[in-house]
Amino acid sequence: KCFKKVDSCFQRKFGTNTTATKTDAPNKKYKIDSKDRNKSFYTVQEEKIEQAERSVLISCPAKTNEKKFLNYLSRHGDINKCFFYESYGTYAVVEFSNKESLTSLHEGTAIPSINHEATVPFKSRLLSLRNAGPVDMSNGQSAPQCQPQTTIHINDLIQRLSKEDSIDQQISSLTETYQLTEENVCLRFLVCSLLKDIAAAYFPECTIRPFGSSVNGFGKLGCDLDMFLDLDGISGRNLKRPKAGLSLEYQTKRSASERAGTQSILSVIGECVDQFGPGCVGVQKILQARCPLVRFAHQPSGFQCDLTANNRVAMKSSELLYLYGGLDRRVRCLVFSVRCWARAHSITSSISGAWISNFSLTVMVLFFLQRRTIPILPTLDHLKELAGPLDKSVIEGNDCTFVSDFTKIRLQDNTETLEQLLQEFFEFYGTFAFNCMSINIRKGREQNKPEVSPLHIQNPFEPALNVSKNVNGTQLERFVALCRESAWMLQQREFNVPHRGSGTGNNAPWGLAALLMPSVSQVAGVKSRKKRKREPASERIKGLLESLKNREVKS
Ligand code: CTP
Ligand code: MG
Repeated sequence: KCFKKVDSCFQRKFGTNTTATKTDAPNKKYKIDSKDRNKSFYTVQEEKIEQAERSVLISCPAKTNEKKFLNYLSRHGDINKCFFYESYGTYAVVEFSNKESLTSLHEGTAIPSINHEATVPFKSRLLSLRNAGPVDMSNGQSAPQCQPQTTIHINDLIQRLSKEDSIDQQISSLTETYQLTEENVCLRFLVCSLLKDIAAAYFPECTIRPFGSSVNGFGKLGCDLDMFLDLDGISGRNLKRPKAGLSLEYQTKRSASERAGTQSILSVIGECVDQFGPGCVGVQKILQARCPLVRFAHQPSGFQCDLTANNRVAMKSSELLYLYGGLDRRVRCLVFSVRCWARAHSITSSISGAWISNFSLTVMVLFFLQRRTIPILPTLDHLKELAGPLDKSVIEGNDCTFVSDFTKIRLQDNTETLEQLLQEFFEFYGTFAFNCMSINIRKGREQNKPEVSPLHIQNPFEPALNVSKNVNGTQLERFVALCRESAWMLQQREFNVPHRGSGTGNNAPWGLAALLMPSVSQVAGVKSRKKRKREPASERIKGLLESLKNREVKS
């Protein structure tokens, strides 16, 4: 049986699909590569959902012989794609060419019987490869090549960036290093699809879609997996009753409100995930949140999952971010750099609290790019003007209409470099009138704050909501102070030229790498965190500058 082996040089999902460069002609049109040409966000989503439905996830012995493994599986049908990764053991994602192959695979798969324990006979697509012998699966070979699903440590990133020759290259390198890979995106869709099989016990026609950073182009390897249980596509929902004659309709349970309905659906599905979902651990039902959710860890993939329902506005904002990120290469680069910088300085956190979220930071970068003298990004109102009839979307009374076809968008000829933009981003927010102004990407200009929150970012599709309502004054002050400090650092020559050592691996952090130093005192050789905290910013910068100079002299 033939199978297409996984192409080791998988094209990165988002890295290569834009060709808008600073040398393009004025009013250039957006261009994407042939693979995704003219494909809207939803077309890409539907394709990936369909691929995931033809895929299985298999736990394998560490030294599995890839060829024998694929030969064994191909008895069920042609294999389109396969890759291995590690997460509490070795796993393989196998995508068959046809969905029918799964029927054959399920027929030949046993339910384990374990002594002294009972198992729930739920036939999922999460499987284990067993070898009862005498097949030699290692065949003298080493373990299969695994695709990384997590990113490198910040210290390794700093070292990597320090070896680059310009800040522009550093920013590109950071983006390349952090962005989701094609395989990781496949795995995210597969986990959604595995969960759909559980939800399908109640709602056979439902879909579980990833949203947020898994699909909006700004996801970093290791980011959480936001999922949305979509019941809208269930046939019969929009079926119009005839005005005359007989017709049938389903008898349904009524709930007090849409929210109450969502809560009970999530409660039941959450219970199923907890009781029957293989690999799903630590299930928490957080049903009283503004957006009720079920949170759990999916061990085989290593993803932290948030399952929501009835969350179509968030899906729209994911589509909007995807569109903005695809318009100009610099958008994603700047967002990745700012998010990484913010994380390195604990401006953002993986746990929720009074700090700025990644989503808020992304909107802030988009706004900044709309506010350039020659705007790099169009306003949301402009994207709405370009919308065609099929783009029309009103969700819960909110107009979420905007163009989905990239090729209809004309961009202005802004030629600023990534280095300039990063510098100006820090200056822009280091001096922004947060006390009285609100950030508004729909209008593309600041507006008077409608409420007293320290940071006000209008939700693009729900104008009454503030995306950053959670942020307190202290966190905003820290953000502003760091913006000022970073803007100042980038103006110093010592910081923005490479610091080359005599040998390899002897590059002192400079440029973006210096901005990411988690503790300035580390560079200055001071160990005490407390001591550093008491020092004023200018002292710390002086220390960092001195240390860079010393390193230069030594090398
Ligand atoms: N969202 C929103 N309003 C908020 C917070 C979130 O509309 N105040 C939506 C956005 O579409 C966001 C998604 O919910 O992308 C998921 O939220 P979250 O996981 O917090 O952000 P991500 O964009 O996924 O970023 P991260 O990598 O930090 O998970
Ligand atoms: Mg997320």
